[in-house]
Amino acid sequence: MTYIDLVRSRYSSRSYTDEPVSEGDMQSILEAGRLAPTGKNSQPVTVIAVTSEDGFERIHKCSRTFGATLALIVCCDRDRSWVRGFDGKNISDIDASIVTTQMMYQATELGLGTCWICWFDPAVISEEFGLPENVEPVNILVVGHKADETSPNHGVRKPMEEFVRYA
Ligand SMILES: Cc1cc2nc3c(=O)[nH]c(=O)nc-3n(C[C@H](O)[C@H](O)[C@H](O)COP(=O)(O)O)c2cc1C
Repeated sequence: MTYIDLVRSRYSSRSYTDEPVSEGDMQSILEAGRLAPTGKNSQPVTVIAVTSEDGFERIHKCSRTFGATLALIVCCDRDRSWVRGFDGKNISDIDASIVTTQMMYQATELGLGTCWICWFDPAVISEEFGLPENVEPVNILVVGHKADETSPNHGVRKPMEEFVRYA
């Protein structure tokens, strides 16, 4: 499959079977995240790979995972991420989101479903998973074997002329 076909095929899956993500697939997904570029190659991102019932119970105190069997909590150390001198912008969210995106498309290429989750209480996730103060949980990517075939917004995007401006 070409990359653009992979991009077109992906949608946010919100229903999964009980079949676990294999160890090999999980390692491929994590490797795609590990290889992501980060600002100044500072590599401030870490991932908590949740597969246990106990781990999912802790996530469910403040979020939902749609029955996925793997949840990747993507965290960023704000003390290590690059800060732009011009305006003081800390790019930790950008670094974490590139890692998340690379893992999302690796999972898609493996035929797995994913859903990117930002609807969670970061204070609860930090407490439940023992994150230090400087480390922020930025995204959760849930992964599993899809039990649905599409999503409400699959492919629903604004037209190119509204997306791009040539200068
Ligand atoms: C940064 C980000 C945060 C998101 N947070 C959630 C979320 O908390 N819960 C959820 O069900 N979907 C979440 N989504 C999925 C979006 O709703 C979905 O990507 C969008 O509606 C387009 O649909 P599609 O992914 O099926 O193409 C999130 C997506 C992104 C990129």
